[in-house]
This record gives sequence, structure tokens and C-alpha cells, in this order.
Amino acid sequence: MTEDRRLVVRIDAEKCQGHARCHALAPELFELDEFGSARVRGSGHVSSALEDQAWIARANCPELAIEIVEEAPVAG
Ligand code: F3S
Repeated sequence: MTEDRRLVVRIDAEKCQGHARCHALAPELFELDEFGSARVRGSGHVSSALEDQAWIARANCPELAIEIVEEAPVAG
């Protein structure tokens, strides 16, 4: 049985204060806008190779602005 679980990262823009640790730890997942606030790259879907970085980034955000949700596999 294959594992189709997918993680998606999100940023709570109201909590983000621009500490930029997310970008430093997982630049493949997060980028900074012109004000230094984080936003997710693309859709926010996390490849299995980047899952550890997603969790590390979340753990290191002082504002708890990073959310990781588990998306159910798409049927079909
Ligand atoms: Fe913002 Fe946290 Fe990253 S405050 S810039 S989401 S480390």
C-alpha cells in the first residue's frame, strides 16, 4: 500500500512577524515578500523529501505562524 498522505504548509499572515527562520530552514517551502513576511511557495504542498524541513520550520517559528495540515489523498 502506498502512502498518499500529503502535507500542506500555510502561513498565518496575522501572526507572522518576519523572523524569517522558515525561509532560512526551508527555502524550498517558504519565501519572503518585500516586507520580510513569509508566504508559502506555490500551493504549499510538501514533497516527502521536504517533510522534515516543514516540521522543523514550524517548530522554529517564534510566532507559531506556520501551520501544517495533512491533506487526504485525492480519490481517483
Ligand atoms: Fe514569519 Fe515565523 Fe517565518 S514569524 S517569517 S513565519 S519564522
